[in-house]
Amino acid sequence: MSYWEDSCRRAAELRNQERVRILALETSCDETAAAVIENGRKILSDVVFSQIDLHELYGGVVPEIASRAHMEACDRVVDQALREAGLRLQDMDALAVTKGPGLVGALLTGVNCMKGLAFAAGKPLVGVNHIEGHVSANFLTHPELEPPFLCLVVSGGHSHLVEVADYGEYRLLGQTMDDAAGEAFDKAARVLGLPYPGGPRIDALAEEGNPEAFSLPMPKTEGKYDYSFSGLKTAFINLVHGMEQRNEPLPRADLAASFRRAVCAELTEKAARAIRDRWGDETQKKDFALAGGVSANRELRRMANTMCRGLGVKLFMPEIGLCTDNGAMIGSAAYYRLMRGETAGLNLNAMPALRLVESGR
Ligand code: KG4
Ligand code: ZN
Repeated sequence: MSYWEDSCRRAAELRNQERVRILALETSCDETAAAVIENGRKILSDVVFSQIDLHELYGGVVPEIASRAHMEACDRVVDQALREAGLRLQDMDALAVTKGPGLVGALLTGVNCMKGLAFAAGKPLVGVNHIEGHVSANFLTHPELEPPFLCLVVSGGHSHLVEVADYGEYRLLGQTMDDAAGEAFDKAARVLGLPYPGGPRIDALAEEGNPEAFSLPMPKTEGKYDYSFSGLKTAFINLVHGMEQRNEPLPRADLAASFRRAVCAELTEKAARAIRDRWGDETQKKDFALAGGVSANRELRRMANTMCRGLGVKLFMPEIGLCTDNGAMIGSAAYYRLMRGETAGLNLNAMPALRLVESGR
């Protein structure tokens, strides 16, 4: 029997199995991460090896360095995830890996590593969309969360408002027309002289500042639920450069707090609009989730809380450690794909430009 036939047969059997354990690997950007996840909800182990030290010197992720570091770390991180779960490769029911979007070389390293392991161990393999992984981080933190719900996915490359209609089924409501929220945070942080990665650093600095110290323009977009952050970013850069040219001391904490407030106001404003339009007063179940690296942002979490309380909506957020890239979220997403009978063959390839929703809106 070929690997593919055997894998399809095994995957079909797993749909009736009570306990399904998946070993997942994530290498789409600058984290080499592996985890063992049970039934899409329970974390048996979660190992994240961050490459931040390697890229900090360059002020951003250097793709070649990322690929090489993933190659060196993959086996070790996978071994550690199995060891911490107290299990062996043979105990796994399936393997999973991020297939995209992300850096092509980084993705390829992970895809090849897991294809090799899946073939050697004779296990079904699931290729996972990284953004779907971020959404699924919520299933790990909140065992009671079930689709349908609305989700704001905010990461380094994405700012999407989606309706999660069912497991693996998404409807795009809005997206950024230019920069992603994480990208905007990273650029603003750089202007303030903060090292990479800027998002968490600008967030920490902003805690000390006055968010009303500077007013920044609210973005304008054509789509009702679309985002735009490039105007805001340019206004911020001009503001800082103007002060520098006038030799004024930079009130960095106030600047960080004002920028953070403007970005989070825009994110929550459009989300609130989508929530209001989606659900009338009669709707009973109104669930809204945050996902992606930027959902670790303290101001965004506070503002989302206030917004949801005001609208009578239940808010779900991944625990902080699961907001940024990790293997656990990939294992969760893989479980639901596997239950839908979706497995990959040994021809699985990296898909650097993969989208969460293919067909627009
Ligand atoms: O989801 P993620 O780990 O990777 C991608 O899939 O892109 O997101 C990384 C992005 C970076 O832009 C990073 O600066 C941002 O999330 N980020 C934050 C915070 N933590 C991470 N942005 C603002 N505040 C944070 N606390
Ligand atoms: Zn990510």
